[in-house]
Amino acid sequence: MKNDPKILVIEDLEHINKLICSYLENDGYEVFSASNGKTGLKLFNKHYPDLVITDVVMPETNGYEVCRQIKSKESTRLIPVVLLTSLDDNESYIKGMDVGADDFLIKPINKFLFLARINSLLRVKKLNDKLDNSWNLLFSLARVVEAKDKSTEDHTQRVGNLAKKFGEYLNLSDEETDTLFKGGVLHDIGKIGVPDNILNKSGKLTPTEYDKMKNHTTIGKEICEPLQSMTDIIDIVLYHHEKWDGNGYPEGLKGKKIPLFAQIVSISDVYDAITSHRQYRKSFSKEKAIEFILSERNKSFETKLVDIFINNII
Ligand SMILES: [Fe+2]
Repeated sequence: MKNDPKILVIEDLEHINKLICSYLENDGYEVFSASNGKTGLKLFNKHYPDLVITDVVMPETNGYEVCRQIKSKESTRLIPVVLLTSLDDNESYIKGMDVGADDFLIKPINKFLFLARINSLLRVKKLNDKLDNSWNLLFSLARVVEAKDKSTEDHTQRVGNLAKKFGEYLNLSDEETDTLFKGGVLHDIGKIGVPDNILNKSGKLTPTEYDKMKNHTTIGKEICEPLQSMTDIIDIVLYHHEKWDGNGYPEGLKGKKIPLFAQIVSISDVYDAITSHRQYRKSFSKEKAIEFILSERNKSFETKLVDIFINNII
């Protein structure tokens, strides 16, 4: 059927290949099969299956290489890969883990155990797809904000990249630097709820207009809140206008009470904003921007973070 999950089976031994395919087809899956890794990868690129089952020892391209290629691409790394092996030894497991395999099955295959594992991996895949869709939706929304705000193109991407670089300098984990990147891209997402005439006003905002502008932090928090796993990103969205001396918004947090990730995105945002050309003002040169950021030590930003930013990030 059209909406049945698609599974790719790569196995060079014909009788095992046929057996696995029959188990899967009888369980309602749409199955594609190949007898070697090279043809398997071609079928993979043609059909984008929901799950791959591959033998390890095969002529030409082996199962580890098939897995490595699938896991090395951002667009396909979340597709589960199951390695089939008759080698029940630690070395094969370690090698399989190294290339990012999601599960291992030892031949001969027990039909019921096999199908239970495949079903469970596909359930995880479905959840990941949902999460991926949510991210795509949020990133699209960030693009809409950029167009609405008439900011320079790719401002949020640059903020994300600067924040990520900062995280790498601090030796944070891949997951944490990824959070900094995503938070950088999404930090102003709440501007979707701020009227265009306020966002694009070239003169000074009235106190009422300024209050409406400030709401973008809390609106952004509400937009991101349904994604429970985004706690750190929500902190960035909510607190990226807080200032070290307590004169920021929305809560007037002071010093170390401001989450570190929000501080990193804040300094990256300010630097990129002042060095980018806007309709209503000229951009700062790098030297002038550094001078400005330095003048904000102990006011908008923590001195230590300013020094790292200026000496190592830009
Ligand atoms: Fe903002």
